[in-house]
Amino acid sequence: MARFFIEGGKRLSGEVNVSGAKNSALPIIAAALLTDKKVTLKNVPDVFDVRTMIELVTHLGARVDFKRNTLSIHTPKVKRLEAPYDIVTRMRASYYVLGALIAREKRASVAMPGGCAIGPRPIDLHIKGFTALGTKISITEGYINADARNLRGQNVDLQGPKGTSVGATINVMLAASRARGKTVISPAAAEPEVVDVANFLRALGVEISGQGSHEITVVGCDSFHSGVNYKIIPDRIEAGTFATVAAITRSRIVVKRAVSEHMTSVLEKLREIGLVIREAEDGIIVDGRGRRKATDIFVAPYPGFPTDMQAQFMALLSTIPGTSTIKESIFENRFMQAVELMRMGANITIEGDTAVIKGVKKLSGTQLMASDLRASSALVLAGLAAKGTTVVRRIYHLDRGYEKFEVKLRRLGASIRRGK
Ligand code: EPZ
Repeated sequence: MARFFIEGGKRLSGEVNVSGAKNSALPIIAAALLTDKKVTLKNVPDVFDVRTMIELVTHLGARVDFKRNTLSIHTPKVKRLEAPYDIVTRMRASYYVLGALIAREKRASVAMPGGCAIGPRPIDLHIKGFTALGTKISITEGYINADARNLRGQNVDLQGPKGTSVGATINVMLAASRARGKTVISPAAAEPEVVDVANFLRALGVEISGQGSHEITVVGCDSFHSGVNYKIIPDRIEAGTFATVAAITRSRIVVKRAVSEHMTSVLEKLREIGLVIREAEDGIIVDGRGRRKATDIFVAPYPGFPTDMQAQFMALLSTIPGTSTIKESIFENRFMQAVELMRMGANITIEGDTAVIKGVKKLSGTQLMASDLRASSALVLAGLAAKGTTVVRRIYHLDRGYEKFEVKLRRLGASIRRGK
């Protein structure tokens, strides 16, 4: 099982190119099933989760070619209606094929996605949305079976215990794309990835409006444009991760292709900590060489501070003098990186959904175990700042969502290598 070997304490410098957004690419690949015409997607990140989604749509009948971050997908005919358990368990976002198959074939059978390290991850809002559109849902032997012969546009309420849902908003948009009539989704998630999926649907020919707000309107259609060629937005979480690399290693890094408008809450926090951040021609210049101070983080849905940046900031705040706090309001169990950081000498106490972090002078390198995608990037960041050698095991978690992570870090001057 591959692991990273990191020699910490180095100052970094130079430029890094941010890849396409994983959390846009996954639903957009599934959305390409809506049409029997060929679709070309640009700036698709070559990460494990994208490879899994390609395996899934191919299983359903799509012909896919994926080279140098360009993906072409053509599904003249859907050959199967079932997303098998062994694929769905590998990647929860497999459930996006449910919305696409309900739209195109009016029937689908998708294995229930399990929970994952960061929480139970229910899908009740997805099911509530499909049901509102007239889909009959039954759950047998761990599969969600959908009968959508009466699919029609409706008002869909996606209010859940933690607010609305990114995944459910996207899944309902997909199903509504071929429903007779108008669908109004509210409250809808406003994340940039939701906007990206909506813009792709519009490129296909779906009448859609309100994306980026908390109310999205979709008018279903049955014919789609041919020759659609769509470019995925840059990954704001990867961009935020590299900005945090600059902060934790006290370096000046140019994060190219970063879209600052997609990451205002992260950049505001980094500035509050003491970083100097400027717009560059194509991206941002992040300077972490000055004095830094503690801060408080309140995770919230977009445009609030993203939960996907919480672990990386926990690593950063562990190295900043003073007391910082992080309140995680989205997922129930997203502090798993804390125990690993404490093994490096970090001073963190967890009180329910809040982590209290007292910065220490220096973390010390040691053997670490990654637990989920963003926690693993946090452990790498801590290793870059720590004294001595850090070994991060189970980096398959990281390979799910970061393209060539160690290669990009080495280009910035980090001492990191992948080994057994
Ligand atoms: C998406 O997950 C992202 N994943 C997550 O990124 C991200 O952390 C999350 O949105 C929040 O921004 C992808 O896009 C593939 P939610 P998703 O539905 O859609 C509850 C990463 O690291 N909920 O907005 O699953 C849920 O339990 C990943 O790239 C319900 O109660 O997130 C959570 O508490 C991790 N019922 C809250 O809503 C539902 O039916 C937000 O979840 C669905 C969700």
